[in-house]
Amino acid sequence: MNFKDQLEEYVVLVNEYLDKYVVEKDLPEKSIYSAMRYSLLAGGKRLRPVLSLAVCDMLGGRREDVLPFACAVEMIHTYSLIHDDLPAMDNDDYRRGRLTNHKVYGEALAILAGDGLLNLAFELLLESILKSNENRDLKIRAAAIIAKASGVEGMIAGQVIDLESENKKIPSDILDRMHRCKTGALIKAPVVSSAVLCGADEDSVKKLECFAQNLGLAFQIKDDILDVEGSLEKLGKKTGSDAQNEKSTYVSLYGLENSKNMLNEITEKAVIILKDFGEKAVFLEELAKYLVNRDN
Ligand code: IPE
Ligand code: IPE
Ligand code: MG
Ligand code: MG
Ligand code: MG
Repeated sequence: MNFKDQLEEYVVLVNEYLDKYVVEKDLPEKSIYSAMRYSLLAGGKRLRPVLSLAVCDMLGGRREDVLPFACAVEMIHTYSLIHDDLPAMDNDDYRRGRLTNHKVYGEALAILAGDGLLNLAFELLLESILKSNENRDLKIRAAAIIAKASGVEGMIAGQVIDLESENKKIPSDILDRMHRCKTGALIKAPVVSSAVLCGADEDSVKKLECFAQNLGLAFQIKDDILDVEGSLEKLGKKTGSDAQNEKSTYVSLYGLENSKNMLNEITEKAVIILKDFGEKAVFLEELAKYLVNRDN
């Protein structure tokens, strides 16, 4: 199958799963279900769950075992976006091609929709663990990886550095830490948790972790570049948000051209690691290259 068709196949699997897992309910509190679905099913790229499924296929694992973990990460990612857009954080009005959650449902419900998605993700992980005894240790390890990556040693740490680095120039090591945490952690987690679930040996897990670490940093550098060069129509979110908030980004610290060079170098580093996995890594390799040139 060619790259685009394979990508589409993964995205469809994820969208169908999420659509079935988070359903509208005719209850007095039904607004929370609409608010969660509004952001979750708004057509994100699904990069994180796609990475899980691609690692699973590469390692010969079972997709049905990995899919709940992959979708849990997408729910956590979506919650992070809802909160990231709030007036208290980046104060953005558009996301995934539509108004941000708080613009439609109000700040209070948007906060709760984020909380709801975060909690649902862990409900899903625990359901998968409790469903059968098979590979229970691996599933617990995978869930623990996702939990850590989402928390104060991962995404949340990065968001704290991001907010506290507004209106100032920060050293390059802090900028890298911010990017590796706020974005890298939730890109590494779906790769590593999938490898663990599929029973990969320690050496392969380490290599894939290193691949994902580089990919995650590259992904956020490109996000910084797109905030300057992208368009609302293609990105589905407003550009110029970083400059408006005086954010510390790759572009603000190194300039546009240097950032593009670093994006290429770091992506190349990621791709080289995949060579050890041979022909089977072709999709991941193409995905890494595709992300360099993405316009959304
Ligand atoms: C946006 O993530 C926020 C970052 C961590 C850079 P994505 O670019 O993956 O957003 P979606 O999921 O496609 O909407
Ligand atoms: C977002 O970084 C990272 C998380 C949501 C954890 P940004 O604030 O740069 O993401 P966008 O550009 O709003 O998507
Ligand atoms: Mg932000
Ligand atoms: Mg933002
Ligand atoms: Mg950004």
